[in-house]
Amino acid sequence: MLRVGVVGCGAIGKEHIKRLNNKLQGVTVVVVSDVFEEGAKTAAALCDGKVYTDANALINDAEVDAIVCTSPGFAHVETVLAAIKAGKPVFCEKPLATTADDCKKIVDAEIASGKHLVQVGFMRRYDKGYIQVKEALDSGEFGAPLMLHCTHRNPEVGTDYTTPMAVHDTAIHEIDCLHWLVDDEYESAQVIMPGSTKYTHSELKDPQIMLLRTKKGICIDVEVFVNCKFGYDINCEVVCEEGVVKMPAPATPIIRKEGRLSTGIETSWINRFIDSYDVELQDWVNSVAKGEVNGPTAWDGYVAAVTADALVRAQQSGNIEAIVTGECPKFYK
Ligand code: NAI
Repeated sequence: MLRVGVVGCGAIGKEHIKRLNNKLQGVTVVVVSDVFEEGAKTAAALCDGKVYTDANALINDAEVDAIVCTSPGFAHVETVLAAIKAGKPVFCEKPLATTADDCKKIVDAEIASGKHLVQVGFMRRYDKGYIQVKEALDSGEFGAPLMLHCTHRNPEVGTDYTTPMAVHDTAIHEIDCLHWLVDDEYESAQVIMPGSTKYTHSELKDPQIMLLRTKKGICIDVEVFVNCKFGYDINCEVVCEEGVVKMPAPATPIIRKEGRLSTGIETSWINRFIDSYDVELQDWVNSVAKGEVNGPTAWDGYVAAVTADALVRAQQSGNIEAIVTGECPKFYK
């Protein structure tokens, strides 16, 4: 039984505690920590766990075999570095860290430790739809991928959501998932701004078209439209040399009523990806038990940060911006 300590007991922290303890196999949450003691106590009641307010005390607790880090992004680097120092596996919710430099520090520390310890919570790689697309592409049946047309639409966002957040909080999932899907690396980024919807405000350009080009020359367009009003609508279509592979949307009943044929569109990101969180964390538990990391690595976390930075620069400059990550270290190949 893998004994886990959870750092950060907010919304997703509590969800993961319930998931780990009640749904998944071979794992139990034994300790939780939060800088906010009452929050930690509430979360501890979900798993009958011990409470700390100091993440380092949790990481170095002899009863903790592995760590799940669900604090806010700015706090991740400290926890992940401490876990590496303690030689313990750590599942870190995205982002790995809020700057590319901090992500690189984690990469360097993990390589120096000589052990694969870090997995980043990019759960789309565990979504059934994306896996089906990846299997189709990897079969080679359709030839090489040439173009990807994707959308990331949300019904609406809060008034504190601003233009760069379309990259850091929204497109970040496509950034990780799409290069994995086509097994390629990014080369450059560009952002085109159409006229904005009347439902946005002066600090948020909405929608945006984000363009990524890979080293093999694949052109990717991602429409990010976070006040689209009608639903949480994630699409991904891959145009290949000998066919087109489109991700299926989760099935809902097809209704015939009053002269119309209709089907539902998901409205919440939680519902759309709920199953992938279960698959993701079960896979992490299983691989940690074997001393491995299967999912997105610290290097993937670093690549996502560098790519996001290039997209934000492109939002501001209107130019094509280079994405420079350097060579992927042998350790991650
Ligand atoms: P939240 O704000 O609800 O919870 C964060 C918790 O961490 C709070 O209880 C806060 O008191 C605590 N905290 C703050 N600083 C801390 C520190 N230094 N050490 C320990 N605890 C600390 O945030 P939420 O929504 O739960 O998000 C947490 C992380 O999960 C974020 O990085 C977010 O991006 C990620 N996330 C990932 C999702 C995904 O789709 N993979 C979905 C939702 C969140």
